[in-house]
Amino acid sequence: MKTRVDPDLCISCAVCTNMAPDLYIMNDDGVAEAAVTEVPADMEDLAREAAEECPSDAIINE
Ligand code: F3S
Repeated sequence: MKTRVDPDLCISCAVCTNMAPDLYIMNDDGVAEAAVTEVPADMEDLAREAAEECPSDAIINE
């Protein structure tokens, strides 16, 4: 699974960076971005949960 953040949708709420800091980080623009491209197999559930919890549906898993 790959994960990414749409910077145009992210409202910088920090839900993803708090719940999955190994997968998402805040960049210098104050917008979240994926810390990895390929999600480790044991973190796929976490990536799915982060996408569900993101209030602006900015996290894309594919
Ligand atoms: Fe942004 Fe959604 Fe994370 S709004 S900070 S991508 S939870």
